[in-house]
Amino acid sequence: MIAHRQPFVRPFLLAILVVSTLASKILHLFQHAGSIPARLMAVYFPTFFIQEVLLFAATWFFLQKFTGLRCIVGLIIVPATAFLTFCLCSSQLSFYFVTGSEVRWDAVTSVGTDAEGRKLMLSGLKPFLGSACILLIMSWVFTRVCSAVFDQWLSALFGFHSHGDMHEEASIDDQKTVTRRKRPVRLWTLIGFVGTLVLLLVRPKVPYSHMSGAIPFTFLEALVSSSPAVSQPVENAFPLPELISEGHWKAPDGYFKGWSPYSDSGATSLPDWASGPLPAGFERWSQKKQHVGGADTNGETGIEMNTTAKKNYYDPVHDPLRITNLDRKLLEPLAQAFKDHHVPITHVVLVMMESARKDVFPFKSGSHLHREILNSYKSLDPDMIHQLNANLSHLTPIAEILTGESGGFPKTRRDTESSLWKDTAEAGMGGLNINGVLTGASLSFKSEIMNHCGIWPLPVDWMDEITSDIYQPCIMQVLDLFNQFKQRSAAGPSRDHLERNWTSIFVQAVTGIFADQNILNDHLGFEKKIYSEDISQEGAKHYHDDMEEINYFGYSEREVYPYMEDAIDDAIKKNERLFLSHFTSTTHHPWALPKGVRSEQYFSDENLMGKHEDMNSYLNSVRFVDAWLGEMLGLLDKKGISNETLVVFVGDHGQAFQEDSPVTGCYGNGHISNFRVPLVFRHPLLPKIQITANATSLSIIPTILDLLVQTKSLNENDSGIALNLMNEYEGQSLIRPYKATDDGRQAWNFNIISPGGEMVSVGSAAVPYRLILPLTQEFEFVFSNLDTDPDEVNLLRGWSVEDLVSQVRSVYGDKAGQWVAEAEKVGKWWVGETKRLYNHAE
Ligand SMILES: *[C@@H]1O[C@H](CO)[C@@H](O)[C@H](O)[C@H]1NC(C)=O
Ligand SMILES: *[C@@H]1O[C@H](CO)[C@@H](O)[C@H](O)[C@H]1NC(C)=O
Ligand SMILES: *[C@@H]1O[C@H](CO)[C@@H](O)[C@H](O)[C@H]1NC(C)=O
Ligand SMILES: *[C@@H]1O[C@H](CO)[C@@H](O)[C@H](O)[C@H]1NC(C)=O
Ligand SMILES: *[C@@H]1O[C@H](CO)[C@@H](O)[C@H](O)[C@H]1NC(C)=O
Repeated sequence: MIAHRQPFVRPFLLAILVVSTLASKILHLFQHAGSIPARLMAVYFPTFFIQEVLLFAATWFFLQKFTGLRCIVGLIIVPATAFLTFCLCSSQLSFYFVTGSEVRWDAVTSVGTDAEGRKLMLSGLKPFLGSACILLIMSWVFTRVCSAVFDQWLSALFGFHSHGDMHEEASIDDQKTVTRRKRPVRLWTLIGFVGTLVLLLVRPKVPYSHMSGAIPFTFLEALVSSSPAVSQPVENAFPLPELISEGHWKAPDGYFKGWSPYSDSGATSLPDWASGPLPAGFERWSQKKQHVGGADTNGETGIEMNTTAKKNYYDPVHDPLRITNLDRKLLEPLAQAFKDHHVPITHVVLVMMESARKDVFPFKSGSHLHREILNSYKSLDPDMIHQLNANLSHLTPIAEILTGESGGFPKTRRDTESSLWKDTAEAGMGGLNINGVLTGASLSFKSEIMNHCGIWPLPVDWMDEITSDIYQPCIMQVLDLFNQFKQRSAAGPSRDHLERNWTSIFVQAVTGIFADQNILNDHLGFEKKIYSEDISQEGAKHYHDDMEEINYFGYSEREVYPYMEDAIDDAIKKNERLFLSHFTSTTHHPWALPKGVRSEQYFSDENLMGKHEDMNSYLNSVRFVDAWLGEMLGLLDKKGISNETLVVFVGDHGQAFQEDSPVTGCYGNGHISNFRVPLVFRHPLLPKIQITANATSLSIIPTILDLLVQTKSLNENDSGIALNLMNEYEGQSLIRPYKATDDGRQAWNFNIISPGGEMVSVGSAAVPYRLILPLTQEFEFVFSNLDTDPDEVNLLRGWSVEDLVSQVRSVYGDKAGQWVAEAEKVGKWWVGETKRLYNHAE
């Protein structure tokens, strides 16, 4: 009879449950409030609380009795439920305070099973504890009120006495008053019940069902159903058949394999290079080989044939979306340069830059962010503006050199400048800077796949790519194919530099275990890999005692400098060609800097709420990484290989802050600032060219191959292979004019929104429009026009595509509305098609 001696405990339990559940529901409704007309919100309001009310009533009921089964339930299940709900609500609140968005319980459970993921979650411990405290205090304050309300109401309803005033011999008078009180309560409850029931019946399922779940139930539901069972249509026909009909088909021409979607043709003959053994990544050709020339099929491959027979493969001839620009001439300045002088590409370095937004590569005067910084100051005299701009002019000097875009700030001197990398390229040289590029995914490793393999990532949550079929050979595997080919032809090591073998290495200063990235990198075909796990051991080659972990993922990029140096030395010594892939990391949350690197204050710190703290830290990490990129380029200079090395810089995704959008971060956030990324093809002997193309990072691999061929950096046989393969990838080459449309078709772009299976954004190189397409019923359709609203401040939202189309029609006209309707169909088709190509088992 603990509860009797401590009469506060039971009401307090009830209060915790009530406060947590209601806080969670109010936050949830608040996050959806903007997307639903206020009058509908008001009408359906009671229906959002049905689960809560039933839960409270049940809890109250179990807390009434002190003996028997009900007592046991009351003493075990109720406290457990209250505790769970309390924890869930605290996480939900803290997640909202940190990111501005909603927790998805199914996603949390999968991050929670990953050690590095747990570290990530622990970084939110402070706001979690803060929210927990607030909830506890609120529960304590409302304890009396809660129990009074429920005691009054439910005891009247069911004719119980609440335990607080339970007297064994209640007087007749008391019973009479109770009976008198019971009648109106029962009547009103009945009216409320019936009314809510009617509303519930007339209420549309989407989006209201999602808004009605009570927090402990939604969590348990997520635990039980691990994957949303969206059944895939068996027949996924292309939604715009008139654009791909026979009249539009194209005949094969040279390396171009022709284009005829849904035709029977296409069983083109096997290229010469595919007749021998093929490295991983070339299953599609191996499989074709077995069908075309069955002669050399032995027992072993026969078995393989059976297992691979049911697989789906990509086929450029049958891809309704594929637009090639390889039939176009090279950009004029490039064609001229190739005529004038030799541009050797012996090595290729691909730098994938963590959270690199295009608007900080370089940071520019007059940009949205620059305005935000200026606005953060209450008052600014001209002298201070001058000083502030002077400080900002030193934010991204290397990016200014690499892109050839000026930051637009007056140049000022600084002591640290002398230590920065100096470009040795002649004036007007340096390579291609592409403006208008979007990443294909706001989840880093999905983006990594796109950048290295030239394919779309898989529109499902997290990294199922690891266990599915990467549907094109990745660049490392292509280089490996070049190697294997030489093995058969070359008699002894050749003097000719084009006869050298390639080697590939992946280097990052942070963990390789998070989300099984190491397994992914094996799958993509990297020969060597270096992660923080390799450099942090005492036996590691460049280990030193004062190595400093700067965030929960690992070290600063500078720790891998000597390992990169080794990789270059090794390649030179072994007479190999190097493909080095490096992923930067300091620009990742929590944007911490190594000791000794000074943090500067760009935003005003007058604001005591620390409003701009995150963005300010991010800018500091951007400055640090900018200098690091210079150090890397300096390493190439030092080794004497910069004039024969192509360096590709690309952002893995952007990063939205509260200066950009109400919801921050990449997770579940379709805002454009998460998708605009820099893309630079740097080579000191290529002319500096500014290109604007509404392309995606899908173009990187075809462009690298095209550059290798056009600069004559491959021998004849490898060139032939590269030309053949370029015609297999979906992306267009960026060294030729980009085709935004082709024979009525648009070059569609898709951007997967982290974690992957909930929303994709659909765009097209031909129009400035963007549609966010929800893949589950919990999210809205969102439209933006980047011409009139480049920073996506005014979005149109709708819970159904019809609703959104009519809104877009009335604001932007019929054509825009028509585009949205098409984009929705094409987006849905693409989701199904991509899963099919990956052979992704749902
Ligand atoms: C500019 O940076 C210096 C330190 O480098 C700092 O002392 C100064 O306050 C900054 N000026 C402004 C206006 O932010
Ligand atoms: C190139 O690499 C292959 C292995 O892929 C090896 O068998 C061959 O001997 C190498 N060729 C040269 C010239 O080093
Ligand atoms: C690269 O080439 C340019 C122009 O041909 C030359 O001036 C420069 O010295 C070369 N750099 C190196 C490191 O060889
Ligand atoms: C190119 O390939 C053919 C066979 O496919 C081979 O006979 C020839 O030696 C190769 N040439 C070079 C330069 O490797
Ligand atoms: C590319 O997108 C921008 C807006 O993001 C738009 O203004 C422009 O028209 C598009 N390009 C083409 C060729 O349509």
